[in-house]
Amino acid sequence: MTQPENAEREAEIRAAADAVARRLGKRRPRVAIVLGSGLGFLGEEVQDAVRIPYADIPGFPQPGVVGHKGELVAGTLAGVPVLVQSGRFHLYEGHSPATAALPVRVFAQLGVGTLVATNAAGGVRQNLRPPALMLITDHINLTGRNPLVGLALAGEQRFPDMTVAYDAELRALAQTAAREQGIALEEGVYCALLGPSYETPAEIRMLQRLGVDAVGMSTVPEVIAARARGVRCVGFSIITNAAAGLGAPLDHKEVLAMGARVATQLGALITGLVRRIPA
Ligand code: HPA
Repeated sequence: MTQPENAEREAEIRAAADAVARRLGKRRPRVAIVLGSGLGFLGEEVQDAVRIPYADIPGFPQPGVVGHKGELVAGTLAGVPVLVQSGRFHLYEGHSPATAALPVRVFAQLGVGTLVATNAAGGVRQNLRPPALMLITDHINLTGRNPLVGLALAGEQRFPDMTVAYDAELRALAQTAAREQGIALEEGVYCALLGPSYETPAEIRMLQRLGVDAVGMSTVPEVIAARARGVRCVGFSIITNAAAGLGAPLDHKEVLAMGARVATQLGALITGLVRRIPA
């Protein structure tokens, strides 16, 4: 990556952040929540909401996946100022890692200190069967991409430490919120692949040997970019199906339908977590 390309990327982040900041007015979101497939309703639960369609944010493409909207929703959740991203940019849609990570970089620029990432995932571990919720303890990046490739952008670490990419304190708070609400919250390692084809049974057997608990096609680019900017991360997977070869053949519509069954629980859990995040 050449220097002018870096300058271009930094200008893109600034332009998007400025556009969002203008719409935020006096709001100062502390927590950003990225909604995966089927979680769009959480955007409706935001109080005093201001909705910012992607069309109004320079550099933000229109989302292309069924079940994903295309807006940021700023307001409060449990009294905490939040920014909800409804509709993400997947690598499998042909988006560059820079585009996949653009919203998170914009959030960091706006002063957001915590990222809550959510996704739909296939259960790889034998006892992770739908519908279940999994707190992400760590990830494996098998997308073959990384949003930090190129010269380091201003405000980003060149070699961010990923030892505790998913913040230990936030994970403990998530488990506390889950216990309080009587929600079963499994824990495990999330592996991201490029997609968009689902995995083969042979690939799933490989992932089992690698220590993977759940498999999906998102979240990892966002978390890497967030860590490079010092944003604390916590992530949740909705286990929508048994991974390939471990159950019935996979169908995106069924994945969405299963997601909807636990999405409400995850919404309540996230609200309980957000309430506990120290200022
Ligand atoms: N594999 C990859 N991504 C997914 C899956 C899966 O089984 N389920 C939901 N998203």
